[in-house]
Amino acid sequence: MTAPTILVYHPEEARDYARLIRLPRRGAKVVACATPAEADAVIAEAEILYGWAVPAALLARAARLRWIQCMGAGVERFLVPEVPAGVTITRAAGIFGPWMAEYVLGWSLWVTQRMEAFRQRQREGRWVGEHPARLHGATICIIGLGDIGRAIARSARSFAMTVVGVSRSGRRVREASAVYRTSAMRRALARADFVVVTLPLTDETRGLIGAAELSAMKPSAWLINIARGSVVEEAPLVKALSEHRIGGAILDVFEREPLPPEHPLWSLHNAVITPHISGPSTPDEIAAIFNDNLRRYLSGRPLRHVVSRRRGY
Ligand code: GLV
Repeated sequence: MTAPTILVYHPEEARDYARLIRLPRRGAKVVACATPAEADAVIAEAEILYGWAVPAALLARAARLRWIQCMGAGVERFLVPEVPAGVTITRAAGIFGPWMAEYVLGWSLWVTQRMEAFRQRQREGRWVGEHPARLHGATICIIGLGDIGRAIARSARSFAMTVVGVSRSGRRVREASAVYRTSAMRRALARADFVVVTLPLTDETRGLIGAAELSAMKPSAWLINIARGSVVEEAPLVKALSEHRIGGAILDVFEREPLPPEHPLWSLHNAVITPHISGPSTPDEIAAIFNDNLRRYLSGRPLRHVVSRRRGY
């Protein structure tokens, strides 16, 4: 068996990811590429693709590909006709929850502690008191109870929040006091002060949060989307925010990224825009997953975090 070629593809950090690969004794050829043009020269010989946001045109030319290790949690970019069913896709799991929990709790505190208002008053030199609200006793509804959703739930509970969850099965989990099936999601939404979306983007979840779901939310509730932009319908969201039918939205993901400069979300004072940073992939954390799977792959053992094409995650 000849040593496999591993193509590492990342627009900014390909070399960092490549440097952290622990090569097996019999070796492998590792090629780090930052652009489609660089990758074009090796894609046809690559057996393993370790990458992020690889253009479909490149995937279409990956004739010898057997395994893709995605550097992120969401794998929809690899579930395309250009990747034949025989190619195993694995995702990164178990590392984003702690990052995203800090994002969710941090921005929730920004809301309840009225941080923006106090900073503004400081800039104006004004001493004006106003009681903060509390997370303690507030209800957070977490849509999607995978490892990310459950990590957020644990952090929310440490603030004595009530956690309700929504999942396909509605199966109970330790981290939530109630779990609703997706079909009963509006009942969960109606209870929440904060609604957090952590679902993968699949045919089933595209547009799952639309006008009806937004109107099921309390007028004071905040929506936090850290999943994929297309899980929430943007036009009804903009409408609900402009008409103050929900408290506001913290948005890290969008239908189109970067969010186009003319997009109405930019100017809504009750929308916070962050540029897809809530669960960053870092070479160190992803390397541990890749190296474990690489050892497994080379010794013919089952890989971890294999994506089911039927479920889409
Ligand atoms: C980032 O969005 C990821 O899927 O990890």
